[in-house]
Amino acid sequence: KRHLISAGDLAKDDALLILDTAEEMARVSERSIKKLPTLRGRTVVNLFFEDSTRTRISFEAAAKRLSADVINFSAKGSSVSKGESLKDTALTLEAMGADAVVIRHSASGAPHRLANWVRGSVLNAGDGTHEHPTQALLDAFSMRRRLGNLDGRNVTIVGDVLHSRVARSNVLLLHTLGAQVTLVAPPTLLPVSVGTWPCEVSYDLDAVLPKSDVVMMLRVQKERMNAAYFPSEREYSRRYGLDRDRFAKMPDDAIVMHPGPMNRGMEIAAEVADSARSTIVEQVANGVTIRMAVLYLLLGGETA
Ligand code: CP
Repeated sequence: KRHLISAGDLAKDDALLILDTAEEMARVSERSIKKLPTLRGRTVVNLFFEDSTRTRISFEAAAKRLSADVINFSAKGSSVSKGESLKDTALTLEAMGADAVVIRHSASGAPHRLANWVRGSVLNAGDGTHEHPTQALLDAFSMRRRLGNLDGRNVTIVGDVLHSRVARSNVLLLHTLGAQVTLVAPPTLLPVSVGTWPCEVSYDLDAVLPKSDVVMMLRVQKERMNAAYFPSEREYSRRYGLDRDRFAKMPDDAIVMHPGPMNRGMEIAAEVADSARSTIVEQVANGVTIRMAVLYLLLGGETA
């Protein structure tokens, strides 16, 4: 495969190869080897049309740890603000010799279109409300490191599924890896297509928590939201927030995840986010490892 655009494009063997390669990368980093020569002479462009902290920085760190040259492009301050199109921006990067383009864009489908215009690999770093495949991979990697094999595990994903590319990519990947996923959300924050997704749906978080091996809280994406979908923060928090009392309903060895950025005190209480059973900080560290594995596998490690 040349691109990584959707978690749904990954067969079980592809996903396991990425997770196992990331395990190798983690072992190398644990031996205090900071940099591998694998992608020397290769150029990775980070093309971010939407804000990001974790994804942008971890792709940059991953590419640098593999000795690639990295060009960071942010739409703010670029000729995009003068009206330059995605296609012309892509062709400009192509002319500069990009071997891989990592793209985040507010339009669902932008990475798919980009793949028609550039010769290098396209990696989807989040497109609109569609997908965020490397987030799902780093989440699966984090679960596997804490819990072992994901086959038959119960993963509960809670909150603003409607606007969440993280939820869709996780449902697709976790299903491929043999986990059972349950989405819990208010009816107004579920997409109409959810009936076709390979997962269960519940509106009762308290009933689902005792059966969960993993509880993944989603950020309420107020910036993408119409007030009609979301009448009150207090009401949301009361029905769907993971507070101390709800945390106590989870099995003792179950873990709590959140892709970040968090609305502390709304979808997740600070003491839950900071507890020993939260993987939130590990997820960020694992993000570098997974992105190293993906870049290594897509770019093949051969010099250009
Ligand atoms: N989880 C995630 O995609 O975070 P950023 O928006 O900070 O990249």
